[in-house]
This record gives sequence, C-alpha cells and structure tokens, in this order.
Amino acid sequence: MKIYAAPLEGVTTYIFRKAYNEIYGSVDKYFAPFVSPAENRPMTHREKKDIAPENNEGINLVPQILTCRSDHFIDAAKALHSMGYSEINLNLGCPSGTVCAKGKGAAFLQETDALQVFLDAIYSYSEAENMKISIKTRLGYTDPEEFHDLVEIFNSFPVSELIVHPRIRTDFYKGEPRKEYFAYALEHAKCPLVYNGNIFSAEDYEELVRSYGSSLDPIMAGRGLISDPSLPDKLKGFTSETDFAKFRRLHDTLYHEYQKVLSPDINVLHKMRELWTYWQDLFDGKDRDIKRLLKAKKYAEYEDAVDRILMD
Ligand SMILES: Cc1cc2nc3c(=O)[nH]c(=O)nc-3n(C[C@H](O)[C@H](O)[C@H](O)COP(=O)(O)O)c2cc1C
Repeated sequence: MKIYAAPLEGVTTYIFRKAYNEIYGSVDKYFAPFVSPAENRPMTHREKKDIAPENNEGINLVPQILTCRSDHFIDAAKALHSMGYSEINLNLGCPSGTVCAKGKGAAFLQETDALQVFLDAIYSYSEAENMKISIKTRLGYTDPEEFHDLVEIFNSFPVSELIVHPRIRTDFYKGEPRKEYFAYALEHAKCPLVYNGNIFSAEDYEELVRSYGSSLDPIMAGRGLISDPSLPDKLKGFTSETDFAKFRRLHDTLYHEYQKVLSPDINVLHKMRELWTYWQDLFDGKDRDIKRLLKAKKYAEYEDAVDRILMD
C-alpha cells in the first residue's frame, strides 16, 4: 500500500518533512504546500527554499502550483523542472477566501470552459517536456454534482494521478466527506485515483474499504498523519500502537530545527503550538499541561510542560 503525505501550508514545511521522513519513513510521496506564481516571478524566495532539492534530500517530493493562469503555471513548471522535478501537482481544491476571490484553487472548478483551455495549455507543455502533472481536486465549488462534468474534463487529459478530496469548497474541511462521489470517480475516472479525506486511524481506512468494497491504494493523509505521526506505520500494518519514542524524537527535532530558522523565540513557540493543536488528542488526561504549553511564552515554560506531557 502506498501512502502520500498531503500538503498543509505552514505545517508540512521542509523542516517537518525531513524530520518526519528520517524518523518514520513510511510515506511514499510527499506533496509540498503550493507555490503561487505571479507575473515574472515563478515563486518567492520562501517558496523556493521550501522545495529546494538540498532541503529535501532523500524525499520523494512533488511540488504543487496554485494558479488559474496557464502562462504562470508553465513559468513555475519550467523553474521546477530546472530544479530537477519531473512531477508537478495542480491545486484545484484550496477553499480559502483570498485564493478563491482570485479564481484559483476550488474557485477554478466552476469555470469549466476556462479550466479546459488552461489544462490544454499545461498538458501540451508537460507532454512536450516529458513531465507529469497530477491534480488535487475537490468535487466542485457550490454543488457536488459539478463533479460529473469535472471527471469528464479530467478524462480528456493525461492526468498522472487524480487526488480527490470529496468535499465542495463550502464544506471547507468540515463534515463527512461525500463518499458517494468518490465512488463515482472509481467508476468513471480514466486516470489513477488517490483518495484523500478524514483518515485519522486504521479503522477509518478499513471503514472506507468496506464502503467501497475494494482496497484504496494509494491514499493521501493530511491532518491524520500530523495528529498521529504513527498513522502511516499503522496503515501499513507495521504497528498497531502509536510509537511515543519516535514521537519524542520528532518533537525534539522539530523544536531544535525551528529554533535554527525562526526568531524571536515566540515564533518558535507559535510554530510548536500549531503542531500541538493536532497532537493534543494523543494525550488524554494531560489537558492542564497542554493548556500550559499552548500558553507558554518562554522556552523554559514550554519545555517543562512538554516533559510533563511526555513523561511516561
Ligand atoms: C492548515 C491546512 C493547510 C493546507 N494546505 C494545503 C496546500 O497547500 N495545498 C493543498 O493542496 N491542500 C492543502 N490543504 C488540504 C490538505 O492537503 C488535505 O487535502 C485536507 O486536509 C483533507 O485531508 P485530511 O482529512 O487527510 O486532512 C491544507 C489543509 C489544512 C488544514
């Protein structure tokens, strides 16, 4: 079974990916959070640093582009190609207000004519350059029924993989994924499919397999992988328990690596706090220490709370 790590902007940074990959190693492919190209600027310095090959050694990484302009996509794809990447992912799922206001991400799904023209241009480029373009999509913008036309559109291009997060834009990341629409994709999509959404445990995966009547492979995990970093090991059957020794190593590595690149100290604590909003569910009965940790303004307070949480 293949497991892909979903891109989570601000969370699955190159620092996270490197630490995670060294300590756990059960992820087959990592997707980087999007780069957002602009006129004459395929990516920012910060975006480039995140996907620079020297910061992603030993990692099977697919960079992602967020745009509704084919010329901008191609400029960014050329830059990525020259960095050594041969697969690029197109973001057609981002639900954020600022992104959608510019017609990008999930908002692009409602402009089906423009989307076809865009896909025509980028796949002509990728075919000529021998590059792969995969797509990460939602079901639609306001109505999941939009998905039927979208599948037909995707079927007319050489999509290397179609990663489906079975929600519409207005669902954001809430509620149950609309499973029946992924079933539609299983039946009608011509390209390889990847399921993404709400896999937090091995039981969640087994439930999906039961409801689709077939194994899902590959799958992409986002919040579930962050919340329980042992999830890929569990899904692959390597373990049934969360490995807290590995968790401690992951935590300590991230804490030390972020101290090297972020300042002042409070910014490191903010970064760790964001991770703890995912991790806290692993630590039942430690609510008081988690609260202290989330409020910590000094390293000493933070470290003390972490030691108490991870004591036994
Ligand atoms: C904080 C956050 C940041 C995200 N950033 C990206 C992104 O840069 N690109 C993208 O395609 N999806 C992004 N996503 C969506 C995830 O990749 C994934 O599709 C979503 O969380 C659903 O999968 P899950 O239920 O396994 O988490 C983001 C989600 C969250 C919560």
